[in-house]
Amino acid sequence: MIKVESLTIFEFRGIRELTLSLNRKNFAVCGPNGTGKSGVVDALEFVLAGTISRLTGKGRGDLSVKVHGAHVDFQEAPEKAFVEAVVWIPSLNKTVMARRTVKAPSALKLTPDSPEARAVFRQLEAHPEIALSRREIIRFVLAEPGQRAKDVQALLKLDELELLRTRLQKIANAAESTRKRTVTDRDTAGVDLARAMDIAATTEPQILEAANCPSSDDLGHSAKFRSGGSGPSGVRG
Ligand SMILES: Nc1ncnc2c1ncn2[C@@H]1O[C@H](COP(=O)(O)OP(=O)(O)OP(=O)(O)O)[C@@H](O)[C@H]1O
Ligand SMILES: [Mg+2]
Repeated sequence: MIKVESLTIFEFRGIRELTLSLNRKNFAVCGPNGTGKSGVVDALEFVLAGTISRLTGKGRGDLSVKVHGAHVDFQEAPEKAFVEAVVWIPSLNKTVMARRTVKAPSALKLTPDSPEARAVFRQLEAHPEIALSRREIIRFVLAEPGQRAKDVQALLKLDELELLRTRLQKIANAAESTRKRTVTDRDTAGVDLARAMDIAATTEPQILEAANCPSSDDLGHSAKFRSGGSGPSGVRG
């Protein structure tokens, strides 16, 4: 979790130049259509995660951060279009300034730089779902109930978790059928053993008794068994 102290946007999307003092507080952006509300959200996502989800992914056609991230007047100079955010990282109790240019979104500049602060931003890059667009929210609202869980997974970039779940389910199913087969084999072996020893059940005392104190009947049976006649396991003498 991080909190934003301030956000500076320069020639980014439809915004020419803007600094917002957010002071680690929640905020709402409101205004008439086309005044740059989405631009502010895009800028925040861009500086934190290095992407603009509105311009990337499924259904975005030939939109791209490289071409459409900078203000149209700065498309030829994307290195000059940038977003800066001063953020407070509570877990480190540190304030850092992050900066990205449209030319090299993945080249995050941190001041002051440190491996710990970079790790926090790597986490944000891996989870750019910090920004949900209206389109994504509408997709979620309109999703068929059976499809909704999948859509939420996609929104939260949990598709990989679903893959892992499917794989684990396959392993569990295979293990379960091996277990069932083994139980059947064990039961069949028990029945065969009981028949061969002429006992009612293959409990340890019954097996021991039949093996150690064979009755005259048993002797005849064992003799037959040993000669390879009727024993299912076919032990031959
Ligand atoms: N790369 C760009 N270069 C120049 N202008 C742009 C760029 N990207 C967006 N704009 C323009 O910036 C303006 C603000 O767009 P934005 O989508 O941020 O407005 P908005 O307040 O979110 O609007 P809405 O209420 O319709 O969602 C629009 O006129 C848009 O066409
Ligand atoms: Mg908008």
